[in-house]
Amino acid sequence: MKPACSYAATHAASLADPAGFWAAQATHLHWDKQPENPLSQDANGFYRWFAGGELNTSFLCLDHHVQQGRGDQPALLYDSPVTRTRRSYSYAELLDLTARFAGGLREIGVAMGDRVIIYMPNVPEAVVAMLACARIGAVHSVVFGGFAPHELAVRIDDARPSAIICASGGMEFDRVIPYKPLVDEALAKATHKPAHVVVLQREFVTAELQAGRDVDYQTLLRAAPVPALPVPATHPLYILYTSGTTGRPKGVVRDHGGHAVALRFSMEAIYDLAPGDVIFTGSDIGWAVGHSYIVYGPLLRGCTSVLFEGKPVRTPDAGTFWRLVQDYQVQVMFTAPTAIRAIKKEDSDGRLARQYNLSSLRHLFLAGERCDPATYAWAQQLLGVPVVDHWWQTESGWPMLATLVGLEGMPAPRAGSAGHPVPGYDVHILDEVGEPVAPGTTGLVAVKLPLPPGCFPTLWNDDARFHESYLAPFPGYYLSGDGGYRDHEGYTYIMGRVDDVINVAGHRLSTGEIEEILAAHPAVAECAVLGIADSLRGQVPMGLVVLKDGQTIGEGQLEKELVAAVRATIGALACFRTVLCVARLPKTRSGKILRKTLRQLADGEDFALPATIDDPGILDEIRAGLARRGVGVAFETTKST
Ligand code: COA
Ligand code: AMP
Repeated sequence: MKPACSYAATHAASLADPAGFWAAQATHLHWDKQPENPLSQDANGFYRWFAGGELNTSFLCLDHHVQQGRGDQPALLYDSPVTRTRRSYSYAELLDLTARFAGGLREIGVAMGDRVIIYMPNVPEAVVAMLACARIGAVHSVVFGGFAPHELAVRIDDARPSAIICASGGMEFDRVIPYKPLVDEALAKATHKPAHVVVLQREFVTAELQAGRDVDYQTLLRAAPVPALPVPATHPLYILYTSGTTGRPKGVVRDHGGHAVALRFSMEAIYDLAPGDVIFTGSDIGWAVGHSYIVYGPLLRGCTSVLFEGKPVRTPDAGTFWRLVQDYQVQVMFTAPTAIRAIKKEDSDGRLARQYNLSSLRHLFLAGERCDPATYAWAQQLLGVPVVDHWWQTESGWPMLATLVGLEGMPAPRAGSAGHPVPGYDVHILDEVGEPVAPGTTGLVAVKLPLPPGCFPTLWNDDARFHESYLAPFPGYYLSGDGGYRDHEGYTYIMGRVDDVINVAGHRLSTGEIEEILAAHPAVAECAVLGIADSLRGQVPMGLVVLKDGQTIGEGQLEKELVAAVRATIGALACFRTVLCVARLPKTRSGKILRKTLRQLADGEDFALPATIDDPGILDEIRAGLARRGVGVAFETTKST
């Protein structure tokens, strides 16, 4: 049943009295100790939600529903075409596994506040591990399986975990990816050494265990179950690393209390999901979308979540998402536009989709990158249900702009737009000095403080970076790093990053980090990495490289070496495949690389020659080089109002 209130009234109430609005939402949860203060500021002046309150997210996701009589309802439906496995876990079963695994973690010495890194594919054991950490107040940090050992090592040294939980391997299409050797390599590189590595042995690949340090996942499950430990609402639930503008990732922190309140609200207001409803989120638990809408959001709301280990295509075909909708009677599906583009590419006339009964589906939600209007229209026509593009970031943990289908009076979704501000978010478009711009004018997307519950209160171990990156540029606002505009009817359009972050198949990557890798090659004098338009992944990185004087290495050989270096350092997910050797990089007279101009050139866009360029002729040379490599053909990137 829809809440009685309208979108406009709800949004207005959330901004007029944030503390009162969210205090009311908090009453829907079970608190071990009621919060004293819905909204406060800490010693740094950072906002904190529900200080003084105590609760436990694992309790709210599991015990609460069992106590409410939903113990037999499916909580998790695991579907893995890559291993030909399907398993259903009821709330009671998931609780039992989690409570025992939490007991096992305690037995190997994991205590409240300790960090635990989880490096696993989309398997139920990973969800159990996340919930078990939460149960004992340990702080999990899930690292996406596509990251290479170097990236894992960086995260190990930053989070300093007392344990790592990993799978022996994952399956990419029909290719086995052994994970444990990657963990061993990361541990050899890292300075910090966790006491234990817990290994889930999968039947298709067995990992070697190091005596004394490594423990079998099943051993932990034999422990006695432990109850959920009430923790302060401001206690960290997890750290999720995301790319910043340098090689050092940012550890986004999420707390127990604000997160639970926000996600429960979002399940109802944004997705219109009630207890017992089924949601399928086609993402990975290693991303924010996976944390919030495969694991925590659905379980906090008492829904059933489909956990899919596979890809939208070739596992076994482009009909696989639609099979899930039919087989599990999915009401809400959520994925990234890139997944829909992959399906569209292989089943453009929807022949596979028509083989399934999709009548249960009410909405398709998209996020992770802007959905180009052509993909939007295709999905809408194929499915015949509203398609909702909504905008969010790892930092927010839940949507900031959306069409809230659970509220009344909501303007209908529109192709190209991410919709309207979600209650709690006061979204503004600012110019470069922080002044609001007129409707229709592109600017920097910022959110007025305080951010609502669920958003990150700070960065792990780095309050200064949190302040410098997000708050300092425009006092009183959170700066998102995205550019966009609002039209005259109030729809907001997010057009892409304005910093050195690019978005590859819904994965966020730092061009600065890739540049650091290219620059380390002995033949490279300087380089620039840009995101170029890609019809499947939205963007892919490419490198422009200037050779050191006297270097004779051919472009082909250099490309091979640099591609291998990026793959070995960041991982295959970077999709770095193209290098172009150029004589010089276009710069301003003060020596700054003209990245925006380069990007426009690579995307085949028209642009005005920057007045400050030191050597305009270099652009023609680069244009010719890009054409030679087949780069410069953009897919739809223009404004659509
Ligand atoms: N473990 C190990 N390797 C992984 C991996 C993982 N979890 N995920 C991806 N990779 C590897 C792939 O095997 C591939 O390696 P290759 O270059 O050797 O072939 C490389 O990383 C690139 O992967 P990807 O970009 O996923 O390409 P793909 O061809 O395998 O699939 C899509 C393309 C579009 C189908 C896929 O990217 C997709 O489903 N995207 C959805 C995005 C998403 O869920 N985003 C989350 C935010 S909502
Ligand atoms: P991540 O933190 O990995 O979730 O990536 C967040 C970034 O993805 C944002 O800063 C945007 O650049 C982009 N993004 C996510 N959702 C959308 C959307 N609906 N429209 C446009 N860009 C989006």
